[in-house]
Amino acid sequence: MEPTTIGIIGCGNISDAYLRGAARSQLVRVKSVADIRADAAAAKAREHSVDAATVDTLLADPAIEIVVNLTIPAAHAPVNLQIIEAGKHAYLEKPLATRFTDAKPVMLAAAAKGLRVGCAPDTFLGGAHQACRYAIEAGLIGIPVAGAATVLSHGMEHWHPNPAFFYQHGGGPIHDLGPYYVTQLVNLLGPVSRVTAQVSTAAKTRTITSEPLAGQTIVVGVPTTVNGVLSFANGANVALSHSWDVWKHKRLPLEIYGSEGSMLVPDPNFFGGEPQITRRDGDWTPLDISRHPYGTPNRTTRTGAHVADHRVIGLLDMAAAIRLGRPHRVSGTLALHVLEVLDAFERSSLEGRHIVIETPCKRPEKLPQGSGEEVFA
Ligand SMILES: NC(=O)c1ccc[n+]([C@@H]2O[C@H](COP(=O)([O-])OP(=O)(O)OC[C@H]3O[C@@H](n4cnc5c(N)ncnc54)[C@H](O)[C@@H]3O)[C@@H](O)[C@H]2O)c1
Repeated sequence: MEPTTIGIIGCGNISDAYLRGAARSQLVRVKSVADIRADAAAAKAREHSVDAATVDTLLADPAIEIVVNLTIPAAHAPVNLQIIEAGKHAYLEKPLATRFTDAKPVMLAAAAKGLRVGCAPDTFLGGAHQACRYAIEAGLIGIPVAGAATVLSHGMEHWHPNPAFFYQHGGGPIHDLGPYYVTQLVNLLGPVSRVTAQVSTAAKTRTITSEPLAGQTIVVGVPTTVNGVLSFANGANVALSHSWDVWKHKRLPLEIYGSEGSMLVPDPNFFGGEPQITRRDGDWTPLDISRHPYGTPNRTTRTGAHVADHRVIGLLDMAAAIRLGRPHRVSGTLALHVLEVLDAFERSSLEGRHIVIETPCKRPEKLPQGSGEEVFA
């Protein structure tokens, strides 16, 4: 397959993962990068041996087929609209927009022009998460009836160089981290039908301790503790706890309970890990992930953990899907459903009622077993 030519808008923290991931792939080739900060684009271009461009020249480049939008959440929808207006497919980092109501016009604009929208997270395509999907479909835990999705920490202002956006609309633990957990739950269980929740904000301001902005104050504009219940169309209900008000805990990231057993799903913030299952109340046994690609550790995190980080495979799948005329898995339609769910947590709490989810969504196709990029063909 002829590699698809890519442009990237947004040269911040996460752009290295995309530039490195794309450089390892035969399916895509990054031609140029742009940012509203010309110096940021120039630095990334030098580091990764690609061209630096302005946003306008990148969008006007006829060679570029897909533009990857790695800007902050508040810029996701406006930049996506610019990409679609320029006649290019858009692939972006999560969330699809800061609010469901801002995302809908993007999806409509793309559909009107016959263009694709893809949106991270793509972690659910990782080896560990696909192995869980195969195991559930093989009936290894029976019919899934319940579960728990947990991500608890003390936030982002101690490590990210420019953390303010995490505390504005489109950020917070539910919009920033919820996409990983809710998307993997939809991959495993199918669409969400209803959400009920309670949210709160423990501190109205936060002090940045990471460099270079240490000492600056962030005004918190989002809930920082979210507890809720997701009801799935298949009848399962899953408890979700997402918080940035917690110093320490002993809870696991994701558990699924079925009629015949239970499953421990590794953290959907990453692509690998060791899933475990039980039959009824038997012993935990590891699930073999070796037949699935993209589960092998390839990066050490700032806390020293050796993790699988194959961020970019959703883009590779979309590039191949466009060439082959098939649907792509890490889709805007899936992300729109997930965003409606994420918005519903705060709405449910404010309005004191269940929120019914209306956006239709199908589970993305499983990734074939294999060892690399041949699975996208
Ligand atoms: N940092 C991470 O570890 C991480 C992980 C997963 C996902 N993400 C997601 O990736 C996205 C970017 O995060 P980040 O950490 O790289 O942020 P960042 O602040 O480090 O970088 C964002 C970049 O986008 C540029 N930008 C902002 N508005 C723009 C516009 N209108 N046009 C062109 N450029 C613009 C900024 O100048 C900046 O260089 C966010 O949606 C975030 O949720 C980040």
